[in-house]
Amino acid sequence: ELGSFTHFMEKEIFEQPQALENAMRGRFSDDESTAKFGGLNLDAREWRQIDRIVFCGCGTAWHACLVAEYLIERYARIPVEVEYASEFRYRNAPLDKNALFFVVSQSGETIDTLEALREAQRKGFRVLGITNGVGATIARESDGGVYQHSGPEIGVASTKAFTAQLLISGMLSLYLGRMRDLSFGDGREMVQAFKSVPGLVSQILDQADKIKAIAERYADHQDFLFLGRQSMFPIALEGALKLKEISYIHAEGYPAAEMKHGPIALISEQCPSVVLSPHGDTLQKVLSNIAETRARKGRVIAITSAGKDFPETAADDIIRIPSAHSCVMPILATIPLQLLAYHIACKRGCDVDKPRNLAKSVTVE
Ligand code: M6R
Repeated sequence: ELGSFTHFMEKEIFEQPQALENAMRGRFSDDESTAKFGGLNLDAREWRQIDRIVFCGCGTAWHACLVAEYLIERYARIPVEVEYASEFRYRNAPLDKNALFFVVSQSGETIDTLEALREAQRKGFRVLGITNGVGATIARESDGGVYQHSGPEIGVASTKAFTAQLLISGMLSLYLGRMRDLSFGDGREMVQAFKSVPGLVSQILDQADKIKAIAERYADHQDFLFLGRQSMFPIALEGALKLKEISYIHAEGYPAAEMKHGPIALISEQCPSVVLSPHGDTLQKVLSNIAETRARKGRVIAITSAGKDFPETAADDIIRIPSAHSCVMPILATIPLQLLAYHIACKRGCDVDKPRNLAKSVTVE
């Protein structure tokens, strides 16, 4: 089943162009200006009445929820809140009466996410699911939802399921945006951007050998920081989680500008940073954060899509990803982080597909 791959995680990383294609199939309108979903079970009038969306999930799925918050607020202008499912179920938060819930779970069996769904339904809210496991409990109990169609994910560290969740979140932001103020032209640009993703992901995967070589040079470190701003912040959290899970290296994700509020004290030759710095409004600010880190002898691996705006000398190692519409940049930036974590863990001799202390699906509290 592994074919030419050494681990399921590696195989699943390389399956992403196909998995992303599957998540999009049949989900754009005939005029290609919006997305469509068969199973949401709300009509346009009901959607118009929603004035807040609450997303719940755990682990990697929670990171996908954070990206959904950025995308939906930006393109659809609907306020979004993100909750750890495990916290939401005991928190008794006051909720807006016109709120809608989304629960996100690859397996569709995570107990905390399932109980968050039940709690929201008990209070009378409509709950939609984004799940991969077909026929899973969350898919059955939710009031509607979207299947990811990522195919089985066997590696404990989630990879292809995460990028499919990001893609579906982006497509939801388009769908909801087009019901509000997003223009036909802006919608079409987003559709084209989503359609280009599998090809762009393949281009990044073509750099796997280069990323492996970088990973192996950093594999001896015991601490890492992952930094990013705006929609790159949840991707930084995901990069740190991936590295922790499979290589047992201590890693933390932060919004880059938070460095000077504490974490910069950690910087030394012993603590490298992976900085997500694609083109965009905050690039110059992130470049200053990188300079501050390097001035304290911290090595920097930068992941950027910016051309000459990101000079070759600005970081110790640079992984260049394609420039694309901002609605798909979180997906593209994730790929090098998966490969970095994978190759660092392999270099350290870790059991990548079955990391210690972890189960693929957490069905007990
Ligand atoms: O199946 P789920 O998406 O509900 O799982 C949620 C988390 O347990 C899961 O994402 C976990 O954090 C992974 N090991 C991440 O790689």
